[in-house]
Amino acid sequence: MRDQIVAGNWKMNNDQIQTETLLERLKTYEIPNKVRVMVAPSFTQLSQSKQLLNGSSIKVAAQNMSAAPSGAYTGEVSAGMLKGIGVQIVILGHSERRALFHETDVHLAEKVKAALASDMEVIFCFGEELEDRKAKAHFDVVEKQLKNALFDLETSAWKKIILAYEPVWAIGTGETASPQQAQEMHAHIRNLILNQYNPSVADEVSILYGGSVKPNNAKEIFSGADVDGGLIGGASLDAEDFMAIVNAF
Ligand code: 13P
Repeated sequence: MRDQIVAGNWKMNNDQIQTETLLERLKTYEIPNKVRVMVAPSFTQLSQSKQLLNGSSIKVAAQNMSAAPSGAYTGEVSAGMLKGIGVQIVILGHSERRALFHETDVHLAEKVKAALASDMEVIFCFGEELEDRKAKAHFDVVEKQLKNALFDLETSAWKKIILAYEPVWAIGTGETASPQQAQEMHAHIRNLILNQYNPSVADEVSILYGGSVKPNNAKEIFSGADVDGGLIGGASLDAEDFMAIVNAF
């Protein structure tokens, strides 16, 4: 059975003190055995978070990574550097990276390969914009994003891939995809993987939903047969809200 996952993408929030406060609060909650819980702090707080979560089942992920192993890339961080501090998971392809930092499918395909070459797990984000949905192009847009970045991976690489469908119009807007819209898209995604690979890859890959998931809507969204959890932005900054979502399956 595939993993149920709730991951908190802190984005550019939580300095040293706020990180300690939030993680100490998260540690007071019992984590259900069946759910993999992750938090993704800023690069500067990764080591601190690893230390604070030592002995906890909450895992630490990075929010981004360079495709290059080392060299003249000012401001970048490599897979080897992340692994060196024990970070084994990385979020790639977030819509904010695509929109604000011009990351393309081609660039993301390179980053995914670099992460996998370092045996890291990848939370790969993708999703359509509002105009795409209005034009009823959302299924095609998502298919293209997956094809361009992931569909030339070997079958075995998919053990390390977690998908996160995040419709751009639902991120930070308070507007979520309806549970039906989320399930419909997740089923479409699983079917694309089935057609490209095989039933076991399609069955085993966890597909998370992201975009204004809150304690009051998580249960309904997670009830979709193909929705295996969530990638949480705003609500992951509050321990009580985040843990309510962790317990929403
Ligand atoms: P919000 O939950 O704040 O909408 O953010 C979603 C997101 O972008 C997670 O990566």
